Amino acid sequence: MIRIGVLASGRGSNFQSIIDGIKEGDIEGEIAILVTDKADAGAIERAEKNGIPNKVVLRKNFESREHMDREIRRILGEKQVDLVVLAGYMRIISPELLEHYTNKIINIHPALLPSFPGTSGTKDAFEYGVKVSGCTVHFVDGGMDTGPVIEQTCIRIDDCKTPEEVAAKILPFEHATMRKVVANFSKGEYIVEGRRVRYEGKKASAD
Ligand code: GAR
Repeated sequence: MIRIGVLASGRGSNFQSIIDGIKEGDIEGEIAILVTDKADAGAIERAEKNGIPNKVVLRKNFESREHMDREIRRILGEKQVDLVVLAGYMRIISPELLEHYTNKIINIHPALLPSFPGTSGTKDAFEYGVKVSGCTVHFVDGGMDTGPVIEQTCIRIDDCKTPEEVAAKILPFEHATMRKVVANFSKGEYIVEGRRVRYEGKKASAD
């Protein structure tokens, strides 16, 4: 059973996919805490509905990003979290938090990295005119969406007429990809070798 900490800034549909994955037995774990950096994040309501402890940590209450992340680290530590999931969390993670959770912080991004990093990935992909996009789950490092890729799902977007349509088409694939990766984390190990990531499930015992 892994203990999952989720960081979210918005509506929390990816957070919901983890809740559902646990309920439906795909993910062998529990969500120990939801942390949001917005007092009105929709994710909070989802946490409340599902009896998940949650905390709001506002940037304005701290003198620096590092101080804010120190508080987040404290909260995650208190809950003995093994895996930190950024589910629509729109902030760069500071080095202290990263070092404490090396290869234990993952992020979902709504484009095929390394194309279209940042906070407007679906809009950027639409405006660039790519025919194919998708989503990426990756380990978080000090850059903007630059960490080793864990999993990607690719879909055609050439039938989409607006950036919003692109986002809506990709979203269900985000949910499935996120759920699969967290399920894998709960049942085995992702091994990072340089930029390459491979998965080793737990071996079934002989007896
Ligand atoms: C998702 O599309 C996620 O990929 C994106 O924010 C949305 C959050 O939706 N994240 C990023 O763009 C990170 N760079 P949700 O709150 O419903 O999960």
